[in-house]
Amino acid sequence: MPQPLVHSASRTDEAAVLDALGHRSLVLVGMMGAGKSSVGRKLAARLALPFVDADTEIETAAGMTIPEIFETRGEPEFRSGEARVIARLLDGGPQVLATGGGAYMNAGTRELIGRKGVSVWLKADFDILLRRIRRRTDRPLMRNADPEGTLKKLIEERYPVYAQADVTIESRDVSHEIMVNEVVRALLAHFSARESVTP
Ligand code: S3P
Repeated sequence: MPQPLVHSASRTDEAAVLDALGHRSLVLVGMMGAGKSSVGRKLAARLALPFVDADTEIETAAGMTIPEIFETRGEPEFRSGEARVIARLLDGGPQVLATGGGAYMNAGTRELIGRKGVSVWLKADFDILLRRIRRRTDRPLMRNADPEGTLKKLIEERYPVYAQADVTIESRDVSHEIMVNEVVRALLAHFSARESVTP
């Protein structure tokens, strides 16, 4: 009988993550294109937690799409709305919360995530991000003459800050299932190293 290609994390691992998480949120951070929403959705399903996408919540609260918010109100107003919405969402744990790429750059948001969540940085390299970002046109920061240069600059500015997240996972072109297994295992390792977790 052929062996399954994907070895999933065991049930016990998932129960241990949920136990250690308590009422906190698992907060996915990282660049646009890193897979925060797609991996986050699968991770939530695996842990039987609600999935919440901060960008979608911002759009609902504003009654506009993100490109429309950038266009009519400008980025600073988008950023303050983003911080407010995430602060509210962080009271809704346990859940998996995917944040927009710029959210973790806000010091107040980072501090709140540190208190009310456990942060997971999905770290993808430049080529993967560029390929994924090029497929879509709904990211205002990339609607300019030099998306490559913009992406490089954002990586330089943001990666040292994303590196403050509790857990870092390399986001690659592998199945979401493999990514979710890695996140679960990395969370377990994080909890057993820094917090109490029952194996
Ligand atoms: C942004 C990322 C987007 C969205 C907005 C700004 C950023 O979210 O919040 O376009 O500053 O990186 P995703 O990371 O989900 O694409």
